[in-house]
Amino acid sequence: RLDGQVDSLLNLMTLEEKIGQMNQYNGFMDFTGPVPDEDESEMKYEHIKMGYVGSMLNVRGVEEVRAVQRIAVEESRLGIPLIFGYDVIHGYRTMSPIPLAEAASWDLEAVEESARLAAKEASAAGINWTFAPMVDISRDARWGRVMEGAGEDPFLGSEIAKARVQGFQGDDLAHKESIVACAKHFAAYGFPEAGREYNNADLGTSTLYNSVLPPFKAANDAGVRTFMNSFNQLNGIPATANDFLLRDILKEKWQFEGFVVSDWGSIAELVPHGFAPDGTAAARLAANAGTDMDMESNLYVNELAGLVKSGKVDIKTIDDAVKRILKVKFELGLFDDPYRYCNLESEKNVIGSKEIQEGALDMALKSIVLLKNENQLLPLNKANKKVVLIGALASDKNSPLGNWRATAVDDSAISVLEGMQEYNENIIYSRGPELVVGKTAFSKEVKINDSDVSGFQEAIQTAKNADVVVLVLGEHGLQSGEGRSRSELGLPGLQQKLLEDVYQVNKNIVLVLNNGRPLAIPWAKENIPAIVEVWQLGSQSGNAIAKVLYGDYNPSGKLPMTFPRSVGQVPIYYNGKSTGRPNLPSPDFVFWSHYQDVPNDPLWVFGHGLSYTDFEYSNLQIVDNFSKDKSIKITVDLKNAGPVKGKEVVQLYIRDSYSKVVRPLKELKGFQLIDLEVMESREVVFNLTENDLGYFDNEGNWFCDPGTFDVFLGGSSNTEINSSFELTF
Ligand code: IFM
Repeated sequence: RLDGQVDSLLNLMTLEEKIGQMNQYNGFMDFTGPVPDEDESEMKYEHIKMGYVGSMLNVRGVEEVRAVQRIAVEESRLGIPLIFGYDVIHGYRTMSPIPLAEAASWDLEAVEESARLAAKEASAAGINWTFAPMVDISRDARWGRVMEGAGEDPFLGSEIAKARVQGFQGDDLAHKESIVACAKHFAAYGFPEAGREYNNADLGTSTLYNSVLPPFKAANDAGVRTFMNSFNQLNGIPATANDFLLRDILKEKWQFEGFVVSDWGSIAELVPHGFAPDGTAAARLAANAGTDMDMESNLYVNELAGLVKSGKVDIKTIDDAVKRILKVKFELGLFDDPYRYCNLESEKNVIGSKEIQEGALDMALKSIVLLKNENQLLPLNKANKKVVLIGALASDKNSPLGNWRATAVDDSAISVLEGMQEYNENIIYSRGPELVVGKTAFSKEVKINDSDVSGFQEAIQTAKNADVVVLVLGEHGLQSGEGRSRSELGLPGLQQKLLEDVYQVNKNIVLVLNNGRPLAIPWAKENIPAIVEVWQLGSQSGNAIAKVLYGDYNPSGKLPMTFPRSVGQVPIYYNGKSTGRPNLPSPDFVFWSHYQDVPNDPLWVFGHGLSYTDFEYSNLQIVDNFSKDKSIKITVDLKNAGPVKGKEVVQLYIRDSYSKVVRPLKELKGFQLIDLEVMESREVVFNLTENDLGYFDNEGNWFCDPGTFDVFLGGSSNTEINSSFELTF
């Protein structure tokens, strides 16, 4: 039925109106890309009236959306409604944890619920399309955008991609609380050379097919309606004009039925890439490759009509793009009621509501990872009032909102200090040196204080007399995100010195780490007895952290990215391949794969995370040997052998020991979140199918090798127990 409606509308459209649907303009307030030299508002309003605009981004709030939609619907010839896109990355006004933190929960239901609540809040503010989820796999913590993804692993990344798409889009796009999702950035944006933002990606086909593409495929299988392409070039071809990615893989092999939007200005950027001589050629290359909508390059609207008339772009290409865009608008119900997302009453009631705040708290609790806990320093004793809190980030109400914070109100997060005051209203707080110089604003680079020592001595003095010192250190929330690459991965500014100086006077330290990426902090791991990873946890940050520190919530998060010992190890990830010289044969041997100055293994492995209780793994059983078309059942017993109830993420990895294209040393193929009472045991069952055991060869064909497969099970990628089975067919 929709196809018929789309075709009928298409038949009424002029070439310019069709191209208009392929044009997306930025709004009039926020800029999430380079700001144009001149104010283009008048031209944009005029183009909306002429039917030359299909979508707006960064227009939000019921009144504003309604006003702009009104022009499209009531003043343009055909009255085609606009679709309103916005970066609802981890919330609209209420911030849930940054996506990397959410991935650390390994809790798919919670992640889906978090996306559902974000969609509910955003849709109440007139938004019907989010530029999320970002499903880019990355192995390089220098890249600032790792905060926006699900980490380094394609299996976990695919599961989370599906959960997020499902959460945003729901079961029915026409439901008023569902919004269109967008899988981005297609493809390989997470592999910029040297971790430098917007740099080129140069990776082999094995990595492309087996690591980069699977989460995009998973998003497509989950029914995602839009894709965004990426800024980078991939093996010399910019993704925005890459017909191998967009046509061969996405639209043909995967039969993607939605539409592809460019990234901000990425069509115009084909010129500085050295791929197009001018804007006209850039528009031609992008459209022919399959980029359906132009975000903020103004090139489709200016160039495509001429290109069609001169035969350089086929009208069929235009029609195909427009049909895809119109279909999504029909699916959203915009033709039934273009103002269906514009209800002032819902906006007032839903945004920041109790339900959404509670959801943000729940997700924040689940995202915390206990990295180290020597001598059970944690949880803190509630009766002990001699706890001292130190660090500029401890009282910061802005940083926990993280980057990509949409319309979050500055300084609106619950700070760690506020959260801990709920448990100890007389808690002593000493800020130490400021972390950031000047005021932080969403779009500006953050300046770190590396010289002003005011507050330093006072913090040391205060720490001296405490029973326990809680030090809140790490990155400011705006130090990661787009355009925020780093070449060093230590604690920024004066914080490492502060940590070491406090340690000189008091060794009972709980380090609460805030960061949007893995950090290289070997001294802290070696010396500090308790370390808790809290990322940037969003609006409810301080409440969640306090609950965990005081033991009212038992942490169960696990790292979705490897933490390096030093930046020189990066890129570092658990699912690498063996070399021909992997092992040290004797102590004096030099010709093996290693560094002279740092071990090969990371600081903390992928999947690592502790609990206030202890889990024991035993009795790994491979129930039935595998043959083609059958699945294999693998079971393991898990026991909560510690003092409190808790949840464990049971992780299953495999290794294909010999194959026609070399496979990783370990690959995650299953995980389950198991909740156990004290002394309770459970048999955990996994079923692996051929689908889990195969891989893509270098031509992109799916292949499964017969032979020996090793199976590893445990609570991290440094698994507890292992076994193996034979695959025969
Ligand atoms: O969605 C984003 C994208 O991830 C990076 N460039 C700008 C887009 C729109 O804000």
